[in-house]
Amino acid sequence: MRLNCTVNGEPRQVDDVWPGESLLNVLRDRLKLPGSKNACEQGECGSCSVYLDGVLACSCLVLAGQAGGRAIVTVEGIAHKDRELHPVQEAFVEAGAVQCGFCTPGFIVATHDLLTRNRHPSEPEIREALAGNLCRCTGYQKIISAVRLAASKMEHTV
Ligand code: FES
Ligand code: FES
Repeated sequence: MRLNCTVNGEPRQVDDVWPGESLLNVLRDRLKLPGSKNACEQGECGSCSVYLDGVLACSCLVLAGQAGGRAIVTVEGIAHKDRELHPVQEAFVEAGAVQCGFCTPGFIVATHDLLTRNRHPSEPEIREALAGNLCRCTGYQKIISAVRLAASKMEHTV
């Protein structure tokens, strides 16, 4: 099938897509957007998180056949158009919340979603919002610090 969708604000067309392959596969292998990571492929780890029509989704659980006409935003699309990092991305770097980095794109998309909905989340709200994202390196405390830093940066810059 031919897949037409919008990715990071640009119309994209991909030919010879199998309707049963995952959107994650289309993004990474066909559109060469490797930010979304492939770990569990069953909706458990959040490393493949993207926005689908403005709603946070695990791209490993979305079939290519369901993605036609949809608007997708990946971690690459969260950065500003001039490729300057978004405050959420800066905060993860500055807070030391990145170790191996495999989980980081998913945490960044989920944090962006949280802070778009709630500029001043409490720690329980942060933990609840990020409950679908797993990290095996950091112990999560620096990720919580990164979310707090991102909230403060967004208050002043976004
Ligand atoms: S790869 Fe999609 S949730 Fe883990
Ligand atoms: S930084 Fe390695 S899995 Fe989170």
